[in-house]
Amino acid sequence: MTTHITNIRMHAAFLAVAGILSLQACGGATAAPVKEAGEIPTQHVKAESQIDAGRYLVKIGGCNDCHTPGYVEGVMMTGMEMPDTEWLKGGDVGFSGPWGVSYPSNLRLSFQNMDEAQFIEMARKGQGRPPMPWPSLQAMSDADLSAIYAYIHALGAAGEPAPAALSPGVAPDRPHIAFVPQAPTAQAAK
Ligand code: HEC
Repeated sequence: MTTHITNIRMHAAFLAVAGILSLQACGGATAAPVKEAGEIPTQHVKAESQIDAGRYLVKIGGCNDCHTPGYVEGVMMTGMEMPDTEWLKGGDVGFSGPWGVSYPSNLRLSFQNMDEAQFIEMARKGQGRPPMPWPSLQAMSDADLSAIYAYIHALGAAGEPAPAALSPGVAPDRPHIAFVPQAPTAQAAK
């Protein structure tokens, strides 16, 4: 009886080891084990060029939603076409919350003022204000961050710098979007 249980255990252990080996053999495309927090991912997008990969990542990463003026109203609400030359110029409508007020940076200027290594370091630290999705950048591999850098850098400088962020408690002097949950009206709550 004891032997039988031991055999089952050994069999299970063998299957577990075989599973790990086959995952390693298959590489990143199959179900890879979940990364530990802080581990740098290795998955990356493949495209004809780094710039194409970067454009794809910017588009699916939703970077335009905040960093491109008129994107929400134009592209998302009316289906307007917007050429890449208009992308990522930053905005002067802030986002207010417990962090104060943050303004979506003009990435067309930011990426001319830093090199690739500085951008990757910034993305890994992810220490800026919300609602910038820093965890999304932190979850990208160096290869993907490098592609984003190549694309945005190649777009070149355009537009004006976004206003400086405000500390909590400082009243904004221009329109802003408040990240504050609203209570339902008495009628809707019925
Ligand atoms: C929900 C809105 C939002 C989205 C989506 C967003 N950002 Fe941001 N981003 C911001 C805001 C706001 C800031 C300014 C943060 C601050 O003040 O600390 C910022 C700052 C940055 C900065 C720092 C620039 C600098 O010069 O300091 C980088 C780089 C950046 N974003 C890249 C991206 C990329 C790449 C994407 C897409 C993957 C993206 N952002 C998507 C809102 C957004």
